[in-house]
Amino acid sequence: MTTPDGSDLAIRVVAMPADTNSSGDIFGGWLLSQMDLAAWVAARKLTSKRLVTVAMDGVVFHKPVYVGDCLLCYTTVERIGRTSITIHVQAHAERVHGGEEVAVTEGRITMVALDADRNPTPIR
Ligand SMILES: CC(C)(COP(=O)(O)OP(=O)(O)OC[C@H]1O[C@@H](n2cnc3c(N)ncnc32)[C@H](O)[C@@H]1OP(=O)(O)O)[C@@H](O)C(=O)NCCC(=O)NCCS
Repeated sequence: MTTPDGSDLAIRVVAMPADTNSSGDIFGGWLLSQMDLAAWVAARKLTSKRLVTVAMDGVVFHKPVYVGDCLLCYTTVERIGRTSITIHVQAHAERVHGGEEVAVTEGRITMVALDADRNPTPIR
């Protein structure tokens, strides 16, 4: 689904109790893994090659995610290089109480296309 600002909704998932840290807060690593998946979903539309994540840059956790919130990851293709694709991922939480959607986390994720020998290869 493409949103009015041109980003694509790549992932929508519920934050579950199993995704919390020892304090009961949603674990940042869980959020990063959802963002990584969202970037892969976006990059996968641009190449059929095998993709790995080489970098996550500029990640900022603006607001917390709570158990029961729906996490929505919006993606925008920022750069298509020779062997890499950089995706900007905006994670929003749709609050379990009230349904308000708030921006919680963002970052830039770069994925590299690999050949059968695991060397970078042109994405197209
Ligand atoms: C991905 C990997 C093969 C890249 O190797 P490399 O020697 O850095 O390759 P290159 O220098 O040729 O760079 C390949 C592309 O990645 C980009 N890149 C490399 N390091 C980067 C970084 N830190 N940030 C952003 N882009 C980067 C390069 O700009 C290049 O893109 P381009 O061809 O579009 O310009 C290697 O780093 C690797 O295998 N990393 C592990 C990946 C992985 O397992 N990820 C999952 C973690 S569990």
